[in-house]
Amino acid sequence: MKEELKNIIEKLENNNQNEIINLMTNVYTDEENEKIASQIERINLEKVMDLYENASNIPFIDQSKIEHIGYTDLSSLNEEDFRSLKTAGEEIIKSGKYAVITMAGGQGTRLGHKGPKGTFKIDTVNGEKYLFEVIIDSLNKAKEKYGVVIPWYVMTSDDNNEQTVSFLEEHNYFGYDKDKVNFFKQGNLPMVKLDGNMVVDSNKLIKEASDGNGGIYSHLKIDGMLDKMKADGIEWVFVGGVDNILLRIVDPIMVGLTVKENNLIASKTVAKRNPEEKAGVFCKLDGKPKVIEYTELPKTMAEQVDENGKLVYGDINILSHLLNIKAIEKLADIDLPYHTAFKKSNYLDENGNLVEVSEPNAYKFESYIFDGFSYFDEMSILRVKREEEFAPIKNASGPDSPETAVNLYDEYNKKYNM
Ligand code: UTP
Repeated sequence: MKEELKNIIEKLENNNQNEIINLMTNVYTDEENEKIASQIERINLEKVMDLYENASNIPFIDQSKIEHIGYTDLSSLNEEDFRSLKTAGEEIIKSGKYAVITMAGGQGTRLGHKGPKGTFKIDTVNGEKYLFEVIIDSLNKAKEKYGVVIPWYVMTSDDNNEQTVSFLEEHNYFGYDKDKVNFFKQGNLPMVKLDGNMVVDSNKLIKEASDGNGGIYSHLKIDGMLDKMKADGIEWVFVGGVDNILLRIVDPIMVGLTVKENNLIASKTVAKRNPEEKAGVFCKLDGKPKVIEYTELPKTMAEQVDENGKLVYGDINILSHLLNIKAIEKLADIDLPYHTAFKKSNYLDENGNLVEVSEPNAYKFESYIFDGFSYFDEMSILRVKREEEFAPIKNASGPDSPETAVNLYDEYNKKYNM
């Protein structure tokens, strides 16, 4: 056996990867071994095994340290405040200091669309539209309104980068200025089966899955986008998902409020419908901003109301964030915590036979963009109306599906844009 291969096997032995060792010693050809060996060389196996060891540890949250986070309700701003925030925000946007990032690296498993989620087509009152096109519509509108071409950054993953770039090329960026569009890729992490062996895919390589949207900060830096933004004089960056078709990606009020409150980070929220709604809410933990998952919020807290009968923990995260470039710079060098999801994944067994599974069998590790917010003392929260800014497409049918989202989109556009 060649020396390099011996080293790889040793690395696998140290991390209990017996199935891959068997594949490499008894099943794979030399060529297949070379391919998987070069993959293993760049994977940090110790980190993966550490995540695996801790996968079933549910993070402990000290409930006595959770408190309410303050927010500004857009609908309760008086006219004078509204105008002054708008003017301050518009100044920043018009002067070319504002950029938009769309996080499009997800797998969209619940929707089940073949291809990147941004290439999913919906039928709206404004005609048929792809999700990427809906976003570009907003960028084009902002260009008309503010006389500036806002740089657009698209975060993709290994899984969908090629398809995303060629889709937008084919559609000529839906009329947007191609040289203002930039792509960067998020990271991956191997999936690990319950028994600790990494999943080997039918392509005979280790299955690496996108490691969550929290990779945005470090990958902006790794891919040179942070430097580019700084060189272009960008100071404020809006970050949103790809699948909320009412997402307001250019909003001077959000910018103006964050500047006025002297914060480096802001998020928009909508009021939680009821204590049972399955959504993460903003709060403060240990005095720092945090999004707490509905599964982690105790029932008594989820039901707690203030003197006006409103939910104390009632601000839902809608993936509508604003970050100052200084905040991104700080977070780019911080390792965010990983969360564990348990997913279904077919795999090759140690003899090279494909095993098809019907139940979850493997861990997937993900970091979340909002975990970065806890590295700051304060952030601005702007509560907006659900029917005006939140129409997510998550599921193929039922709640948060193309049908419910398009209804909301159509209602909004009939009211304001027709
Ligand atoms: P979701 O958590 O809803 O995931 O992502 P998803 O991939 O769209 O769908 P499911 O859970 O597989 O059904 C929220 C936003 O974050 C992006 C998604 O593209 C979406 O815009 N995202 C998610 C990433 O960019 N990278 C990731 O690793 C995960």
